[in-house]
Amino acid sequence: MFTETITDMKTNHQELKNWVAEIKDLTTPEEVIWCDGSQEQYDDLCAQLVAKGTFIKLNETKRPNSFACFSDPSDVARVEDRTFICSRKKENAGPTNNWKDPREMKAELEPVLRGSMKGRKMYVIPFSMGPVGSPMSQIGVQITDSEYCVVNMFIMTRAGDRVLKVLGDKGSFVKCLHTVGAPLQPGQQDVKWPCNPTLKYIVHYPEERSIVSYGSGYGGNALLGKKCFALRIASTMAQEEGWLAEHMLIMGVEDPQGEKTYLAAAFPSACGKTNFAMLIPPKEFNDWKITTIGDDIAWIRPGKDGQLFAINPEAGYFGVAPGTNETTNPNAIRSIARNTIFTNVGVTPDGDVWWEGLTKEVPKDIIGWNGKKWDPASGKPVAHPNSRFTAPASQNPCLDDQVENPNGVPISAFIFGGRRSTTVPLVYQAINWSYGIYAASTMGSETTAAAFGEQGKVRRDPFAMLPFCGYHMADYFNHWLQFGRDLPAPPRIFNVNWFRKDEKGNFLWPGFGDNMRILKWIIQRVKGKASAVESPIGWMPHYSDIDWSGLDTFSKKQFDDIMMIDREAWKQELLSHAELFERMYDKLPKEYIFMRELMLSGLWRSKEQWKLEPEAEYA
Ligand code: GTP
Ligand code: SPV
Ligand code: MN
Repeated sequence: MFTETITDMKTNHQELKNWVAEIKDLTTPEEVIWCDGSQEQYDDLCAQLVAKGTFIKLNETKRPNSFACFSDPSDVARVEDRTFICSRKKENAGPTNNWKDPREMKAELEPVLRGSMKGRKMYVIPFSMGPVGSPMSQIGVQITDSEYCVVNMFIMTRAGDRVLKVLGDKGSFVKCLHTVGAPLQPGQQDVKWPCNPTLKYIVHYPEERSIVSYGSGYGGNALLGKKCFALRIASTMAQEEGWLAEHMLIMGVEDPQGEKTYLAAAFPSACGKTNFAMLIPPKEFNDWKITTIGDDIAWIRPGKDGQLFAINPEAGYFGVAPGTNETTNPNAIRSIARNTIFTNVGVTPDGDVWWEGLTKEVPKDIIGWNGKKWDPASGKPVAHPNSRFTAPASQNPCLDDQVENPNGVPISAFIFGGRRSTTVPLVYQAINWSYGIYAASTMGSETTAAAFGEQGKVRRDPFAMLPFCGYHMADYFNHWLQFGRDLPAPPRIFNVNWFRKDEKGNFLWPGFGDNMRILKWIIQRVKGKASAVESPIGWMPHYSDIDWSGLDTFSKKQFDDIMMIDREAWKQELLSHAELFERMYDKLPKEYIFMRELMLSGLWRSKEQWKLEPEAEYA
């Protein structure tokens, strides 16, 4: 491993050197280590984590070069209530973000950070979000005192010396400071998952383009390239510079004629992006091919002719483990076969991993995510609901061959979707760009374990960006509207809901691979090749517009149920948008008021429900 003293740094970038020196003086680590991104360094850090007891080395035959670990029970998900956007003006953070004056925040953090790395090593990780050297990419440098964080960053980003080379002596970079906030006194024994159980800060300074994260070692709180940089900071850059930084997967869909269409889709956390991005179509569709560009984040820019191009800034998957299996997501199962880090899943006696939904039976004598032998009588799950795998994207069997294309891939459609048990139909197409942006802005979703707090409650999650937009949410809406106005032919916009349930609480839609049926209609709509019927909220497929081959169990009646628009429920849905609008009244796009009225008027009829009418009428 390449270890240096602070006076002998491996870069001539003065600002970077100064910053590293400043943070070292502030946090007083034992040692400063520059991360070169090499396999040797990765292996060495994993060995250290095994020696400390943080990592459990998994069975080398079953799960080569892979590790499991359990976090502190207080540190299992993103902490939205401790996430701050410290823009100079409060109104720039907007009503959906926690805000504090940047000077006040810095004054508050100074004593918290002072000595915070005592007894630990400080790692400096130069990383690129996006292909190294691409004009669409951005560079960050993360300082962290967590070895766990370093090895995860090695998988999730392109990290190391090659990035320093591109940065050169003067390149700009985002400063990402992370500490677990658990200094060690001389002789003090370290714990397996150091963190600060009572104090956490995830702080963004958008004007300075810098991030400070304190107290957590988990996921989006600690892997700062991901949500903090690639979404919160990048969204503010994108607004200024005329591009988009989005919580979206990017996938390629190749039709039987070999024509490929790329699209981007935004679903909230733990609502199916990874699954959709790696979809394997039912066997009746085996002449269709799905490929993955990304599963969580998209950076999108217009090209010269107005065509949009997207890159995935990440290099790995930090995916939800529970529910992942050979049927729901075979490509994810292949992706995590080796070289993977598992956090908060169960560990079997033979050194493999397990989580709810992987197999029907719970393996005997399994260790639960609390690190103890799991007690079936406890009523608690083996794996934490937000347990995750960290796996290199290169291991995905359906990885798209354009992932390293520095200019990205052309985007032809956007899909938005929340997790809604009621009200929202399986799929509809927005009437036009503005209505699509309205629908995305007012998207609701039931909260999941990806964030700390109450679960299953419907909240407005505009564009699946509620926890990730680095500026005023209504400015963000306006940015999207204007973005479309500047395009000669903006992409079509669709809305999906895989999660509608019957009165008994069963999902109405089989989901997963069968989502291909809906995707096929979407692709055909984009190409002007499929028909649709006008509904009060947008365009919808007839039953006969969907390819049902191989799914004889799904009846026309079931389709009608899942596509049904309950007028009363939709009136309530639209009325509830007022609450969101009222919160951002100062900057709300004026169109939104009119679009809401127009949709209400379309719903204002005597018939209780809107159902897809007999096909003949629309033939
Ligand atoms: P983040 O990584 O948190 O941003 O989430 P994600 O959107 O990538 O979530 P992921 O794909 O990992 O979704 C995880 C959850 O969604 C699991 O509970 C899956 O079982 C469930 N899920 C995904 N696709 C479907 C589907 O088509 N139908 C149903 N019913 N559940 C699904
Ligand atoms: C999400 O919560 O949307 C994630 C996981 O993708 S984390 O990186 O922890 O934010
Ligand atoms: Mn996400």
